Amino acid sequence: MRMIFWLLTMTFFPCISKAQSLLVQGGKAFMPVLAGEVGNSSASSLAYMAPIWEKAKAMHFNTVLIPVYWELLEPTEGKFDFLLVDSLITQARAHDLHLILLWFGSWKNSMSCYAPAWVKKDIQRFPRAGADLEILSAFDENNVQADIHAFTALMQHVKKLDAKEQTVLMVQVENEIGMLGAPREYTPAANQAFTSPVPDALMQYLVAHKDSLVPELRQHWGQQGFKTTGSWEVVFGKSTATEELFQAWYYAVYTNKVASAGKAVYPLPFFVNAALNYRHVQPGAYPSGGPLPHLMDIWQAGAPAIDLLSPDFYNPFFKEYNDLYTRQHNSLFIPEIRFESADAVKALYAIGHYKAIGFSPFSFESTDHPGEEPLGKSYALLQQLSPFLYKYPMEGILPDSSIPQEIHLGKYTFTVAHEATLGWTAFKDWPLSGGVIIQTGEDAFIIAGTGIVITVKNAGILQAEEGTFRNGKWLPGRRLNGDQTHQGRHIRIPSHNWEIQQVSFYEY
Ligand code: DGJ
Repeated sequence: MRMIFWLLTMTFFPCISKAQSLLVQGGKAFMPVLAGEVGNSSASSLAYMAPIWEKAKAMHFNTVLIPVYWELLEPTEGKFDFLLVDSLITQARAHDLHLILLWFGSWKNSMSCYAPAWVKKDIQRFPRAGADLEILSAFDENNVQADIHAFTALMQHVKKLDAKEQTVLMVQVENEIGMLGAPREYTPAANQAFTSPVPDALMQYLVAHKDSLVPELRQHWGQQGFKTTGSWEVVFGKSTATEELFQAWYYAVYTNKVASAGKAVYPLPFFVNAALNYRHVQPGAYPSGGPLPHLMDIWQAGAPAIDLLSPDFYNPFFKEYNDLYTRQHNSLFIPEIRFESADAVKALYAIGHYKAIGFSPFSFESTDHPGEEPLGKSYALLQQLSPFLYKYPMEGILPDSSIPQEIHLGKYTFTVAHEATLGWTAFKDWPLSGGVIIQTGEDAFIIAGTGIVITVKNAGILQAEEGTFRNGKWLPGRRLNGDQTHQGRHIRIPSHNWEIQQVSFYEY
């Protein structure tokens, strides 16, 4: 009876919805995206890319994130050269890989270095955000129209070439948008907008979502008594935070114009990525106004054609920022993270805990030993687990070296510790520890990862088996008992091993 109840619960309350509906391919959700992003200039040369596809395969990727450069796509105004894009798609297909395209258009890390020469050289026609800045102004119609024209041509072309095969899964619109050196632009057009009333579209959104805004924004607006009319400084107060909010709105509106034009021709999922701010650093000292956690509502209000707001991780606050990015119904996709061995366990945790759509370390081609990369070992596990991920209740495992993690799934409470805390093996450095646990039945679990030891409260191990999944079918290896479960006391995946175990428990 309880089993039937458990099954019914699973049928009527699937674990996630928005994220799954984004990446549907042939009626099936294409998740997780197990990816890496190539270095900025790599995809400008097919010869340079040649060995990179193999590296991606060796690390068990299913997707590669590659830039599409405006300067190479439209070297002469109105004349498009799609040869590079076409060849990259062909290469990806030949390696059975998907692509996520990164549109390096108006902005790339705040700057406008990927604008074609005919844009860069005509400052009168394509105004900058400041006299000495190679940054296109977000307040100029010529700028946005030129970007729209190029991006639409790209999306039209990708549709023509790829709508059937769907090698291209998603598109990032612009790259790490944000104002540098100041919280906002001070051009005449920007100054005029700043002293004008806050646009109705934003005001209406804020009023309609007043009680569910992120606390940072709600507090900012509330300090002025939740005013609903007036200029930016009247409604939000005089501060650099208000200036950043203003810039964020106009960045979002600009990006939305580009994205919605592209979506009108080929409606793939779109996202924007953020250069994360640091705590206690003032707007202007970091790229300001981008899709940052405290500006999520502004971006969602101003850019409804953007499906996801995504963090790029070059700071160590992985859990903290992921917690922030999973607010406001935002599905997590990590398009960039510094490429290092800890990514292997962070990927498992991001998917297990946050139900992340995907994970993608930056400049993965820098490895000379792709077959030995820990990330590839985690991706190999995730690939095997893909029929079960998102479908069943699951949790990510990322224990601190000193504090065990408590996990509740169904009626069971698990305590997960770093395997090295057992002290059974002399390790010079702390090995990686992390994983994912999936509940496939009332008492049945799949546990996968590396360097973890799991105990269960008031319950014993009925059966533990190691093995592999092939197309969702379990191929058992050893039955684990005795020393391998510490005589029934715990489930363990040794450090330096990447394993899947199927385990069932019973309550005492
Ligand atoms: C973040 C950017 O989005 C990437 O394109 C690249 O410039 C990296 N930073 C470099 O660390």
